[in-house]
Amino acid sequence: MDKKTMIQELKQLKKEKNAVILAHYYQTGDVQDVADYTGDSLALSQVAADTDADIIVFAGVHFMAETAKILSPDKKVLLPVLEAGCPMAEMVTPIRLQKYKDEHPDRTIVCYVNSTAKVKALSDICVTSSSAVKILKHYKNDKLLYVPDKNLGAYVKEKLDLDMDLWPGFCCIHNDLTVEQVKESRKAHPNALFIVHPETKLDVINEADFVGSTKGLLNYVIESDHEEFIIGTEKGILHTMQQQCPDKTFHILTPELSCFDMKLTTLEDIYLALKEEQFEITVDEDILVNAKQALDKMLELSK
Ligand code: 13P
Ligand code: SF4
Repeated sequence: MDKKTMIQELKQLKKEKNAVILAHYYQTGDVQDVADYTGDSLALSQVAADTDADIIVFAGVHFMAETAKILSPDKKVLLPVLEAGCPMAEMVTPIRLQKYKDEHPDRTIVCYVNSTAKVKALSDICVTSSSAVKILKHYKNDKLLYVPDKNLGAYVKEKLDLDMDLWPGFCCIHNDLTVEQVKESRKAHPNALFIVHPETKLDVINEADFVGSTKGLLNYVIESDHEEFIIGTEKGILHTMQQQCPDKTFHILTPELSCFDMKLTTLEDIYLALKEEQFEITVDEDILVNAKQALDKMLELSK
């Protein structure tokens, strides 16, 4: 089947089955273009919580589809490529988190949304990159643990001066960015602003003109008077940036900024997932109930 026919059939299937397609900004351009909603983790969670659709096809990675299922337990949530995971989400396991909790019963557990349902179920509250600062202002007087991203954790900890332990997890693409790369890129593009995602190390973040979630970075380039930007996040975001700002120039900080798992999903995978209603995400009831409390609190405090 050619691409045009597949897109038409997908539209028809969506109508027949009352389905929506959600896509993260790190997906390929083809996938983002067929989505009903593109967004960062927070925006996509909000859509998943509010949608009237019967089926959600989630073009992203496993924790995102799982989050959609937890927030919309009555809906059928499909992940077009079941193997698409987030390596960082696996860096904290329930057994280790439980051990930490037993040893530190006074610490409130703050969980980045890039985590498994079982870890969310052991946590007090979830945050995303766009909501972490806003939410954690409510916890300024608490003793905290942040799992699993040590970089985003360090960024928020410094910004709000928190008493917060940091789990040693990281995003394998953002964590590799270096100050030297920023300096080289600034030399090559002297008129460009450098903007970065907070999953990056603090020394790189301190070099940036702006720090934000994927949606935050997108809004920044749309609203800025500046014409040229060096982008310090996964390269999928360039697709939307270029579409929204055709007259501006974007340079990816390094071509290595490509998430293997985010790039696994193709248009055909989405079409087949919806046609066959395959690769449904399920979450055990007891885990779902506890994880939902942490996610509902996140949605409430990020308003
Ligand atoms: P946001 O889109 O929430 O900024 O998250 C980035 C990310 O790494 C998702 O995996
Ligand atoms: Fe996980 Fe990093 Fe890929 Fe996001 S970009 S899904 S945090 S590995």
